[in-house]
Amino acid sequence: MGPSQADLRAFALDVPKAELHVHIEGTLEPELMFELARRNDVALPYRTVDEARAAYRFTDLQSFLDVYYRSCGVLLTESDFYDLGRAYLERAAAQGVRHAEIFFDPQTHTDRGVPLGTVMAGLRRALDDGASLGTSAQLILCFLRHLPEERAQATLSQALAYREDFVGVGLDSSEVGFPPSGFARVFARARAEGLHVVAHAGEEGPPDYIWQALDLLGAERIDHGVRCLEDDGLVRHLAAQQVPLTVCPLSNVRLRVVDSLADHPLGVLLDHGLLASVHSDDPAYFGGYAGDNYADAAAALDLDAAAVARLARNSFTGSFLERAAVQRHLEDVDASLRRLTGPLVGEGGPGEAPGAPGTLRP
Ligand code: ADE
Ligand code: ZN
Repeated sequence: MGPSQADLRAFALDVPKAELHVHIEGTLEPELMFELARRNDVALPYRTVDEARAAYRFTDLQSFLDVYYRSCGVLLTESDFYDLGRAYLERAAAQGVRHAEIFFDPQTHTDRGVPLGTVMAGLRRALDDGASLGTSAQLILCFLRHLPEERAQATLSQALAYREDFVGVGLDSSEVGFPPSGFARVFARARAEGLHVVAHAGEEGPPDYIWQALDLLGAERIDHGVRCLEDDGLVRHLAAQQVPLTVCPLSNVRLRVVDSLADHPLGVLLDHGLLASVHSDDPAYFGGYAGDNYADAAAALDLDAAAVARLARNSFTGSFLERAAVQRHLEDVDASLRRLTGPLVGEGGPGEAPGAPGTLRP
């Protein structure tokens, strides 16, 4: 008999995992938003935390971004960014996140007059302190694609003063009408600086944006990427190259990319042999952190423990950690699965033929 639904849910919540797709600004819970609004004397469009949560009903990506950018108005001081980062890491660590590669949107803050140094100092301190929680963390600087490439270039120029504090660059914000092709020069410059490259593509935008992100930006990972399924040649390419796709099931439901979790194509992506993993995107707005996304997706899509463990492995394989660290995390995932199910294939269970470790015994 396999594990109960409750055991599977606990496993999905706890299994060691890497969070590769979370926007730190999207982790601003209404409680902290109100606290910072009071601290900084900033007006909010809501009277209470409950009223804020009730207003988080979105019809598409843009309807969410309008709320998200407005909420960022409470973030002003180094302590604000520290508190935001610290709160995120505590929540993530409690859901099995052992490593996080965290997006931040500098332009959202510098355009409001908050110095980049304030943002960097607060987040850096939070990440350094977070190490005691057992979660390593790195930053990825995202350019806002609804703004011109020259503004991204200026942001990169400024950010290079903090080169040691971030490991890569990404591309986010409103997707449709803002193709990756418009950012080829700034990404080439980032690559020349030795930075990793990721890009949101194929969330609302067409498969061609995924091709552009790969071919014109040199993206090593695609954030979302679910619309790749509309292009068979692209699916073959992503599978052959094992390009990581950082998929965000609860986000896709809340932003109406899919109708419901039961309709989510996560299982189809895995069936095609893609290196898909599961992440939270903007957990304060979408109803769950990394573990919640694993648990809810597993329940809605009837994923078994082996599939959940595969998602966790994919998250480490798709990370920018070095090989030895990835290997250690993969062993931890296997140990976690073993505690749930007993010996894995290839581990010499009774009468077992040799097989690949990390898969469930039949
Ligand atoms: N910024 C924050 N969340 C985002 C998302 N889901 N897509 C694009 N940009 C974002
Ligand atoms: Zn995102």
